[in-house]
Formats: sequence, structure tokens, C-alpha cells
Amino acid sequence: MPDKEFVSAPLKNAVESGSVCWEAPSNIALVKYWGKKENQIPANPSISFTLKNCKTTTRLNYVKVSDNSTTSRGIEFDVIFEGVKKESFKPKIASFFKRILPYCSYLEEFKFEVVSDNSFPHSSGIASSASGMSALALCVMSLEKSLFPETEDDFFYKKASFLARLGSGSACRSVRGDLVVWGQHQEIPLSSDTYGVQYPFKIADVFKDYQDTILLVDKGKKQVSSTVGHDLMHGHAFAAARFQQAHDHLSALIPVFEKGDVKQFIKIVEREALTLHAMMMSSDPYFLLMKPNTLAIINKIWEKREESKIPVCFTLDAGANVHMLYPSQFKEEILEFVKNELVVYCENGHYICDEIGKGSKKL
Ligand code: DP6
Repeated sequence: MPDKEFVSAPLKNAVESGSVCWEAPSNIALVKYWGKKENQIPANPSISFTLKNCKTTTRLNYVKVSDNSTTSRGIEFDVIFEGVKKESFKPKIASFFKRILPYCSYLEEFKFEVVSDNSFPHSSGIASSASGMSALALCVMSLEKSLFPETEDDFFYKKASFLARLGSGSACRSVRGDLVVWGQHQEIPLSSDTYGVQYPFKIADVFKDYQDTILLVDKGKKQVSSTVGHDLMHGHAFAAARFQQAHDHLSALIPVFEKGDVKQFIKIVEREALTLHAMMMSSDPYFLLMKPNTLAIINKIWEKREESKIPVCFTLDAGANVHMLYPSQFKEEILEFVKNELVVYCENGHYICDEIGKGSKKL
């Protein structure tokens, strides 16, 4: 049963052709989304920092088709990624179009060209599904706006996040900045399982320009796709306790953000990262996605924190790379630390400097 609020009205007059372009950033979860129900509904609420430098730029070119017999074949489109036609990206986008069609029936009137670039190297081990799906969903919404000019801004972003979620769950947190909540939570008004909302409470200055230095331990393809990973939470012995923990962590973060309590922030964020990996290590089948260098970096971060008293901490996604989070006032010293002590653990010495960002942008 489609979510009625987001079903587009029947089209009266389609435009002949056009082109829209958006850039959307990646995001890093502080409370992790791990486990989902049918139709991309998260098993627990999550919250993330929207990033600034790691982003995808997508142009959507569209031309009206003369007859809309595309319905039986699905939406017709080509994908060009970093200047090259990419057949291998098509299944994911085809399934995205199929999932969003009940909400965007006008898509059937057009054929498309999706032209995308990432600001970070594709083979960096940085997942581009969040930024990629978010940029594409925003392009679809710009097309919708040109067909239905009365579309209001609030609805535009809400539906963009709703559509992005159907492409990849975490993508719904990449539409806006700078702290975004996805998934219903008792203490966050208007939070929803079907789209992300901007964190509504006070955020102390220290968290407004937080830094994320991404240490690329393993630039290879993901060992476990997130779809398979999320699936492993079905029937997982610790699932119920984990989902409750995510609710509790999000509650605990509210006073942390308000007071600028970095000490408590560190405890919650690192526990989240380690719980995510603990879930993978204890599922059936089990996975170990950290590498020896991931652990070496974590230990170095802990040593550095102890000895310098700089509130630097780490978080992890479902892979071996380490996101090192810290307040911007320590940027210089931490980047020295990276060069002197951490770069040896990074594949080819590669790392990416990022920070909290404001969300997507129409180009
Ligand atoms: C570990 O959003 O990639 O990064 O909905 O199947 O596309 P799908 O999953 P995806 O999962 C991300 C999981 C995570 C944690 C997070 O970002 O919250």
C-alpha cells in the first residue's frame, strides 16, 4: 500500500525535455541503522552528521517518449558514471525507479540519462550509495517540480528523502544538513521511518563544525553488501537488545548535543561503532570486517586521546575504514598525528579530510 502523502497527482501536460542537476553529500552515522523491515523501514532510529566534501553530482536528462509503452519494460535509461557508460550500475538504478514509480507515475512519460560523478575516488571504499541515491532522488524531485510547479519546498525535501530511502536507507539522511534523524523516536518530534528530518534541538557550537578524517584502510569492494548485512539482523540473537540500545543512545545524545558534552559523545559514538561490528561478528553467518590496521588505528586514537586530552574518537561503517571525529579547533594537531602516525596504516597512504556539511545543493 503506497504511502498516500507522496503519490504524485496524474499528469496533465508533460514537458518535452529538460535537464536538472544536484549534488548531494555522503553522511556518517553516529547511531547506526543496521537491520530493516520490508520496504526499507529501519528496525531502529539513526542519526548522522551530513558530510561536506564526499559528494556525488548527478545530472538527470529527460526526454518525453512518444508512447508510454515503457511501462511493461520498466523505465528506459542510460547511466554514465565519470564519463563512461556503466551497464553494471543499471540494476540498482532500475530497482530504484521501480520502487519509486508508485509515487512518481510521471516517470513513465520519459526516458532518462543519469550522468554522475563522485568527488571521492570510486575505489576508495567510501560507499557512494548514500550520496548517489540522494542526488538522483533530488533530480527526480526537480523534474516533479517542473511538472507540478506548486510543489512546496518542505514537501520537496521530505519527498526527496522519502524517495532516496527507497534507493538506499542511509541516503535519506543525505538530503539536508547537518545532523539528520531517520526512524521514529519517542523524543524527536516529527521523526519518521520513511524519511529523514533535521535534528530539531539545540546543538552546541563544538558540534557545528566537527571534523571527519576518513582513514582508508581497505579500498576494495565491500565484503558484505549492506542488504545482506541488514538481513542478518532477522533472527539475530541480540537483535531486540540492539534496537533498544539505538533508541537509548539517541535519547542520551540529546543532552550531549545541547551541552557540548564531547566526553559522553565519544562513549556513545564508539560504542555504536563497536556494537555494529559486534552484530556482524555474532550473526549467522558471521563476518569480521575490521582489518588489523583498523584495530591499530583505534588503539592509536585511544593512546592519543589519553596522552593529549584531545577529544578525538572513531566510528566505523560496515567495513574496515576508520572515520576519525574531532572538534575543528584540534584540526592542525590531529592532521599532524595522521601524517606522523596513522598514514602507515592506510592503503597507499590515502585518507580524506571531511567535515560536517549543510546538505544537498541544486546546480
Ligand atoms: C553501516 O543504507 O547502505 O552504514 O538500505 O540496504 O542500502 P541499504 O543500506 P545502507 O546501510 C548503511 C548501514 C551503515 C550504518 C548507517 O549508515 O546508518
